[in-house]
Amino acid sequence: MQYENSYPVKGGDFKEAGKVAVLVKMALKKMGVAPEILRRAAIAAYESEVNIISYARMGTIRLQVRDDHIRIDVEDEGPGIEDIELAMRPGYSTATELIRELGFGAGMGLVNIKSCSDEFEITSEVNQGTKLRILFRIPETG
Ligand SMILES: Nc1ncnc2c1ncn2[C@@H]1O[C@H](COP(=O)(O)OP(=O)(O)O)[C@@H](O)[C@H]1O
Ligand SMILES: [Mg+2]
Repeated sequence: MQYENSYPVKGGDFKEAGKVAVLVKMALKKMGVAPEILRRAAIAAYESEVNIISYARMGTIRLQVRDDHIRIDVEDEGPGIEDIELAMRPGYSTATELIRELGFGAGMGLVNIKSCSDEFEITSEVNQGTKLRILFRIPETG
């Protein structure tokens, strides 16, 4: 199994929110990824996409599918995150009133990505951007 695709995400573009996650989900479905893994990967893609839209200028979500794993790499150009530990706390959010009115900004995105994934790494540079490396293991079916 070999698949790769890269999806651009534009900051501030809330009306497009969820579109990349749908494309990721469709690609994984087509690859025959098990529903339980697909569901977790789709959540991670969605929360990553919403964060780029909410906080960054632009970013990309890169999907790689292999026999034994799915990898989602998220990279954005934006303000970055000063205190990652704080940002990872359930309920912590700097979302604006506008973002909240649109139904986002519950402060559960990053923590959800982490709990959905099998491996999760976040790195960020203030005034540069943020990177997420999200991995899902695909168990051998025999
Ligand atoms: N890509 C990003 N760039 C800058 N800051 C971010 C990014 N992603 C998350 N953050 C910061 O981390 C906080 C927590 O993110 P998250 O858990 O997704 O919750 P929410 O987006 O609902 O606030 C955000 O409020 C924001 O301050
Ligand atoms: Mg979020």
